Amino acid sequence: MKQQIELIVNGDRYSLLVEPWRTLNEVLRDDLNLTGTKLGCGSGDCGACTVIVDGRSVSSCLTLAVSVSGKDIRTVEGLAASGEELHPIQESFIEDGAIQCGFCTAGMEMSAYYLLSHNPAPSEGEIRAGLSGNLCRCTGYNQIVDAIGAAAKKMRNQSKAGGER
Ligand code: FES
Ligand code: FES
Repeated sequence: MKQQIELIVNGDRYSLLVEPWRTLNEVLRDDLNLTGTKLGCGSGDCGACTVIVDGRSVSSCLTLAVSVSGKDIRTVEGLAASGEELHPIQESFIEDGAIQCGFCTAGMEMSAYYLLSHNPAPSEGEIRAGLSGNLCRCTGYNQIVDAIGAAAKKMRNQSKAGGER
């Protein structure tokens, strides 16, 4: 039997009727058409489906939609502050060539966002540890690690500039 849930995704509220066995990944992609979040392995191993729920990084393929009713969900579509500009993490991924096929990119960026929200100046080792749940078949990881280091720098400069205003 379907259950009534309310998802708050990137600040927008959605009332939905969903079967209790459907995953957050399915509901985001199929019901809300937020296809930036990818489905890779479907078993918690690749990180392609990573989203942020109430400030915690989760695998949306392993999360039931009914279990996150009323919680604050952020997906890659909500990473940038406005629809026009890219988030510094997204900019740096492009600038540093951290994207090839792009299948892992949304999950990588959400893991990077989670990491930088908790550690604004991570070491290379901390960046690699922060990405340990995300697999990429294309880039060899070095460009992704460089991009996250560059994004961290940009974000620190932005917050410094904001503080000086
Ligand atoms: S699709 Fe969720 S971890 Fe791979
Ligand atoms: S860019 Fe292809 S899987 Fe990462």
